Amino acid sequence: MASEVLKTFLKKDKRVAVLTGAGISAESGVPTFRGEDGLWKKFKPEELATFDAFISNPQLVWEWYEYRRKLISEVKPNPAHYSLAEMQGYFESFHLITQNVDGLHQKAGSKEVIELHGNIKRNKCISCDKRFEEIELTSKEMPPKCRCGGLIRPDVVWFGEMLPAEAINKAHELSSKCDIFFSIGTSAVVYPAASLPLIAKKAGAYLVEVNLERTELSHLADEVFLGKAGEIMPEIAGFIKDKD
Ligand code: OAD
Repeated sequence: MASEVLKTFLKKDKRVAVLTGAGISAESGVPTFRGEDGLWKKFKPEELATFDAFISNPQLVWEWYEYRRKLISEVKPNPAHYSLAEMQGYFESFHLITQNVDGLHQKAGSKEVIELHGNIKRNKCISCDKRFEEIELTSKEMPPKCRCGGLIRPDVVWFGEMLPAEAINKAHELSSKCDIFFSIGTSAVVYPAASLPLIAKKAGAYLVEVNLERTELSHLADEVFLGKAGEIMPEIAGFIKDKD
């Protein structure tokens, strides 16, 4: 299944960077954003995923995030998440960068996941920036308020917002220094995350894409696996295991 060239990159002395998107969690039951059943087909991002939307209708935005939190709390990682967790530790370096806010990589055992778009379980005050875990919020107010009086919002990146500087800087650096870069389950259209495979490719990395369908990135990829991440990633991880 893995080509002869790919096999030469699945070796201990290689540096691996991985970017994942909503597609990797689709088989767990988390809806993606684009495509036929995508969230952005049913909901308008400008009404739910911008700071202005939150300020004009905090309750609606908070409720939407509560709905997604509930959904995410009920799902489990799938074989693609577990395969990536298995792959860490095998290579000279292995770094997982995700656009997902669902925490499923960590649940599957991945360590030091770089979360570009935040995490849906965390919250922060819009005034003093204090961080809160979901569990700490006992108030029935929607959204709850911080001690300082500020509204509490989900700690995710909304449209028009900057990505956490540390995360995106680290992701840039890792992408420019890897031997092989996997882009898995992402439509590769949302920047700056979508620039990471381009950076890797430009720096000479072998670019592998795993997706149900071809994307904006496919023409640049050295290898494209069309299919479900939950089926393809176990085969790739299995190849590494079989070698030992
Ligand atoms: P998208 O919804 O844009 O794309 C999901 C991709 O996963 C599509 O290309 C699908 O073909 C693919 N896919 C679906 N199921 C799959 C499966 N089982 N195996 C492999 N691939 C599969 O999601 P993202 O690319 O993650 O940002 O979207 C990027 C950002 O746009 C999100 O982080 C979010 C969104 O608006 C913010 O909220 C800031």
